[in-house]
Amino acid sequence: MREKIENRTAELAVIGLGYIGLPTAIMLANAGFRVTGLEIREDVVEKINSGHAHIIEPEIDELLQSALKNGNLRATSNTEDIKEKDVYIICVQTPLKDDKTPNLSYLESAVRTVAGAMKKGSLVIIESTVPPLTTAKMATLIEELTGLKAGEDFYMVHAPERVMPGRIFKELVYNSRIFGGITPESAELAELLYRSFVKGQTFKTSSTVSEVVKLMENTFRDVNIALANEFAFLAYQYGINVFEAIELANTHPRVRIHIPGIGVGGHCLPKDPHLLIWPAEEDFGLIRLAREINDSMPLFTKDLLFKAFREINLPPEETVVTILGLAYKGNSDDTRNSPASALIEAIREDVGEVRTYDPYVGGTHESLEAAVSGADAIVIATDHTSFKAINWEELGKIMRNKILIDGRHVVKEPPKGFIFKGIGRGEY
Ligand SMILES: NC(=O)c1ccc[n+]([C@@H]2O[C@H](COP(=O)([O-])OP(=O)(O)OC[C@H]3O[C@@H](n4cnc5c(N)ncnc54)[C@H](O)[C@@H]3O)[C@@H](O)[C@H]2O)c1
Repeated sequence: MREKIENRTAELAVIGLGYIGLPTAIMLANAGFRVTGLEIREDVVEKINSGHAHIIEPEIDELLQSALKNGNLRATSNTEDIKEKDVYIICVQTPLKDDKTPNLSYLESAVRTVAGAMKKGSLVIIESTVPPLTTAKMATLIEELTGLKAGEDFYMVHAPERVMPGRIFKELVYNSRIFGGITPESAELAELLYRSFVKGQTFKTSSTVSEVVKLMENTFRDVNIALANEFAFLAYQYGINVFEAIELANTHPRVRIHIPGIGVGGHCLPKDPHLLIWPAEEDFGLIRLAREINDSMPLFTKDLLFKAFREINLPPEETVVTILGLAYKGNSDDTRNSPASALIEAIREDVGEVRTYDPYVGGTHESLEAAVSGADAIVIATDHTSFKAINWEELGKIMRNKILIDGRHVVKEPPKGFIFKGIGRGEY
């Protein structure tokens, strides 16, 4: 196997061609490996094979087209096409169920598909973010299904992904990577494979440490965002702008306070803290509390909006509210667990009309002007760069009432003539 990887003759299969799987498959194909991408969504397979990615990401179409052109990448939804590969890389989603426990059904189904296709000597890599101990459990499942012995007849690794949408192709190359093997040899083989395109540092450890590392990283961020949100609540009580206070606090050499806002979204941050504590017998409350604080931010944003309605005696049921940004983060089309959706859900019944505008997301108004014309209030829910250039006073001219609620610290100076409120911006 080592030689096959070194010579780039190892045959690879990537299972799940989403935000993580497709870029990974493209990188490996452009590094010289023959890669078969298995994806259950046939529309996605068709699009990819025609040279067009189904996700928005800088450079993705050019890189995809070069991988298709050199003949090293092909997408398929037929599991027969991934038989007897040397390496399987599993990149399926690992969401939460409604009760906030992990839904590992996609992962288990992918592992069953791999077990049905692999051969003796295959290397199985899980890139999906998973609860601690899952890689070892999946190795046992493969043993049961195939009769092969983990660590002897096949290799197994957890290789978590740390990329940020919008910077995926840069970060795939330059981020450091962790390879958690069920045996040291498993981790070594995975490291060798990823070294074909990774220029960042690489580290080897056990699969459980690697699972915990990935989850700790996102939990660290979630808890720190919750702390920043709590600072924002406190700032209202003292009538100060929390962003000024944070900027000054961050001049301390050992302090880096995060950014408060309308909420934490995406596929990862809202779920990973739950994955971290799920298999544990006991947890100590901080991680759960941070999740609750961050989940409450869309409702807090609703409070700001309704306070503004009261200030000018607007009956909420007669208002038109325009939400700017449906994606969970700036310059992305990803709407998964977006705080904007939670806000819309929270206000839909109480206001007259909700409109949306997001230049990256389909199904919203065609233009900013169309979305805002005749509206009573605008709520900024995403910090797309294009929103930072908006001339609010000019835009206000086509509004019926001028209320602006900034959930993302996009507006630096409150525009004239507006009732302006922002998370952490002094007056409540
Ligand atoms: N998106 C990110 O920024 C990011 C960053 C780091 C880690 N992760 C982790 O990576 C994993 C994948 O995330 P994603 O954002 O790429 O998810 P995604 O939903 O974009 O992609 C998953 C893809 O897998 C396909 N799929 C599901 N089951 C399948 C099966 N049995 N066979 C073939 N295809 C199947 C789905 O149709 C989907 O296209 C998750 O565990 C996530 O937590 C994501």
